[in-house]
Formats: sequence, structure tokens, C-alpha cells
Amino acid sequence: MKLSKLLQASTLAWCATVMAPAWSTTPAAPGDDAARLRVEKVAAALAADMAQLCPAADPGDQAAFDACRKGLFMDSQLKRSLLDFVLWGRQKDPKLTLKESKLTQFGPDVLAGMYVPLFMFNGKYSVVHVEREGLYQIRLQTAFRNRLSPGQFPYPFWHEAEKWSMYEKANEIILWWDTKADKVKVAQFTVWGTTPPVQVNTHVEQAAFDGKWMWTDATGKSQPAVTVFDGLLRADNPYIGKLDTAYKNLALRLRDGQCFQCHVPNNPDGMKKLVLLQTPMHAAAEIKRVMKAVRNDTMPRDEFGIEQPLDNKTKTALLNEGAAFERLLDLAKQWDASAPSTARNDATGLTTATAAK
Ligand code: HEC
Repeated sequence: MKLSKLLQASTLAWCATVMAPAWSTTPAAPGDDAARLRVEKVAAALAADMAQLCPAADPGDQAAFDACRKGLFMDSQLKRSLLDFVLWGRQKDPKLTLKESKLTQFGPDVLAGMYVPLFMFNGKYSVVHVEREGLYQIRLQTAFRNRLSPGQFPYPFWHEAEKWSMYEKANEIILWWDTKADKVKVAQFTVWGTTPPVQVNTHVEQAAFDGKWMWTDATGKSQPAVTVFDGLLRADNPYIGKLDTAYKNLALRLRDGQCFQCHVPNNPDGMKKLVLLQTPMHAAAEIKRVMKAVRNDTMPRDEFGIEQPLDNKTKTALLNEGAAFERLLDLAKQWDASAPSTARNDATGLTTATAAK
């Protein structure tokens, strides 16, 4: 389908979804009817849930962001709809195929706990079948929270001016739905939606990026706060400090193993499916794959992409610190899950995974 047609279809579908039940009047589109009905149903549920958890608010409203983040992370339609690894990134140009696009691989915790909550929703959406990809798009109208403090972003998106600008101007989130897996396979934000952002924001000029993906603030706290489980683990979780230290130890070994020459947001290796390891939250979602890759000598690689096994000492040290980090993560999660749910619910009043047990 051509882009112009696609946009047209998207607008039509949007009108249909607002004016009538989504499944009754959506224009005929390629793709089989049962599959389309299923996607329409999922889209309606996702859009309603996300608008309820993350409604439009001032782009600097910390409480609105916290509530949205907790809601999406703890128990949401979105999180339940994600594959184990989802590709995420900006839609630089709608003409690019997904294969041609540079995207980052994220586990559900990272996407639902750090990235998607930076957006807000009004419940309006459209469903478009994209033949060339064999996937459906669930297009949710959105706007970006660009006035939060720097530690609320998973890393300084402004390390690249164009990236920050596209985040700021985003007007739709596209969830690429795979009907075979019945899950979201790819998620993108785009400035190419047909309606203006659901909340007005004006450009924020951030301080120049100083090359640090993590930093320590004036109170001695590791930043970005969102990457050290702030608000995602309970504030009184006894493992938070230990996790921070365990990650720092692991990070030293990842550095020795050359991992940060490639697995960082500026993507020096030009990976099509980037894997990020530069913060505790990012590494937490990848730790199982990290351990496996190091054990099996498939990482690191040299500049030609050829496997370059670590020497025994570096390998053992990395595996030891990796195992310690992994163990603490499990303990932290277990503690959080078994702690009384009342304390966690007070901020949002939401039904959390714990409360539902
Ligand atoms: C020269 C660049 C480079 C270096 C250095 C590097 N990687 Fe990778 N890594 C890649 C590329 C490229 C991929 C994607 C591999 C693929 O899918 O073909 C990847 C994928 C991965 C993955 C996800 C896929 C998988 O195999 O499970 C993990 C985890 C990973 N790397 C960990 C590491 C660790 C740990 C180190 C350091 C010990 C490291 N990498 C060093 C380039 C690099």
C-alpha cells in the first residue's frame, strides 16, 4: 500500500473508530477478516487502557508520569501484549521498511516501565494493515512528556538533536501487531500521524550531552533515576542500593569486555537491532542473554562482526558479576512481589499485579 493511501486509510479508520464501534464500519482492507476483527478488538482495549493509565497532562507533570509508569509496568494491556523482545525506535521516514529501520531490542519491563510512559494518550486510534510487512499497525494518538527532569528519561535522548526533536513532536505511537504471535512485535513513535499531538508542548533546549549515559546527582544518587528502578521497585525495597552497586561492578566488567564499544545508545556499530546494556534497567532485561553470550563466547565481537572470545580472567570476572546482579534482581523482585500491596497502591490507586494475586 502506498503511503498516501495508508494515511488515508488510517484517517478513515480513525473516524470510524470514534464514531461507531471499531469493528462495524472500518473500511475493507487486505488481510483476513477474522484476524482484522481480532486486531480491532485488541486495539480498542489497548487504547482504552493506555488512555486511562496515561491520560493527557502537562508535559512536565511528574505525578502523572509516575502514575502512568507504574500502571503500565505493573499490570497493563500493553505489557501483556508485548513479545519477549520488542523492537523500538522512531519512524524516521514512513517509506523505510522495518528491516531498513534502526531499532532497539527491549524486554517488556523496559518498554512498559521507561519508554512508553513518556507518552500520553487520549484513547483515539486507528488500525491499518501493512501488506509489505505482513503486520497490522495499531496507531495510538499521543504526545511526549518533554518537560520532565533529565533523570526521568532512560538516557539523554538529546545526545542527538534530531532524535530529541522527533520525540518532542511525536503524534502517534505505532504498535506493529503480529497476528501469528498475537502480540506486539515492533513499536515506534512517529511525527507522521495525521493529527496534532494530543497535548501541546513547546521545545525544551537540554544542556549539551557530556558523553555520560549515567551520572551521579548532587545528593549522590545514580541517574537517570528511572534506570535504577525508581518507582518500579518499592522505595523501601532493601535490595535497591545493593542492585545499584552490583550493576556498577558488572559495568566495570562489561567495559573490560569491550561491550560498551557497541551496546550504547549512540550505536557506534550501526546495529539494526541494537541491544543496550548501559544502565541497570537496560541490563536487567538482557542479563540472561548476556550470560549466555559470554558463556558461549559469541560476544564480544571485533569491528568486522567476528566473535572474539574473552580471555579467561575477564570472562570469569564478567560471569561472576553478572551472576551476582542476576541474583539480586531476583531477590529484589521477589521481595517486592511479597510485600504488602497497600503501600504500593497508595500513589495510584491502581490494581497492581500484587494486589490481584
Ligand atoms: C563490535 C561490536 C560488539 C561488541 C564489542 C559486543 N557486541 Fe554484543 N552484539 C553485537 C551485535 C552486532 C549484535 C547483534 C547480533 C546478531 O543478532 O547478529 C549483538 C548482540 C548481543 C546480544 C543479544 C543477542 C544475543 O546474542 O543474545 C547480547 C546479549 C550481547 N550482544 C552482549 C554483549 C556483551 C556482553 C558484550 C561484551 C562482552 C558484547 N555484546 C560486545 C555487537 C557487539
